[in-house]
Amino acid sequence: KAELKDFLHISDFDKSTILKILDRAVEVKALLKSGERTYLPFKGKTMAMIFAKPSMRTRVSFETGFSLLGGHAIYLGPNDIQMGKREETRDVARVLSRYNDIIMARVFAHQDILDLAKYATVPVINGLTDYNHPCQIMADVLTIIEHVGQLEGTKVVYVGDGNNIVHSWLLIASVIPFHFVCACPKGFEPDKKTVEKAQQAGISKIEITNDPKEAVKGADVVYSDVWASMGQKEEAAYRHQVFQGFQVDENLMKIAGPKAYFMHCLPAERGVEVTDGVVEAPNSIVFPQAENRMHAQNAIMLHLLGV
Ligand code: CP
Ligand code: NVA
Repeated sequence: KAELKDFLHISDFDKSTILKILDRAVEVKALLKSGERTYLPFKGKTMAMIFAKPSMRTRVSFETGFSLLGGHAIYLGPNDIQMGKREETRDVARVLSRYNDIIMARVFAHQDILDLAKYATVPVINGLTDYNHPCQIMADVLTIIEHVGQLEGTKVVYVGDGNNIVHSWLLIASVIPFHFVCACPKGFEPDKKTVEKAQQAGISKIEITNDPKEAVKGADVVYSDVWASMGQKEEAAYRHQVFQGFQVDENLMKIAGPKAYFMHCLPAERGVEVTDGVVEAPNSIVFPQAENRMHAQNAIMLHLLGV
């Protein structure tokens, strides 16, 4: 595949590029963890960060990472530019491209990030849309590499809503071979086209099921996310009822088996999609996973900026 300007979907990249970016993440992570502060590849560069939704990890990891490597990041919250409302997306894209070297955006409609990338003349990074969350999955794969050894050949079982996180898992499953299972309630399956695309790629074993207990058997990773994503919070009470039986609790982790790690993109609602005990258990790797957002994204930005 040709070199791409933007980071919008994992499946836009081939396996060797993804692994190359993750190698770089490991390298720069070691450098930063050693206390080294003289590696400043982003010196003189600026990044615009557009947030139409709340965030802790994405905002802080991008801003901190870009600044530790010498750059300056500008936070634009939901009330600042109001992309598509106060100003058309194509105008936002062209104006910000004239000030900044790179743009990162978290938006509702996936089409907004596509439009932003289409009109921007600088790289655009997807910091989560209603459809997917590619930076999260890069951090997740980095975390799996560190704890399990590699993603290839592992069994990752996601339990919960077939949402944006699941779509990113499906998209990476069309590039890197592993066994991905999504266990969700009926009617909350991931996007059909995305499932078909991943299955047709013929790279990974993909299963969509409504039986979490059967699904988690032999898992290397059990993964959970909120039942009501940003933008769906008014459905939370209804979803809590429908998702009964899909909580990742100690019993489910026991069925998964002793080698299973627990992962969650966070924020987690303890007592809802996951118990407090599972989040706090020794095999929970949610905090190394959160830390890796920064290291994975640093490497993504280094790749896109060609430095
Ligand atoms: N995982 C994640 O994207 O967290 P934030 O919503 O806090 O950025
Ligand atoms: N599925 C969640 C992920 C949060 C990082 C959401 O979209 O709100």
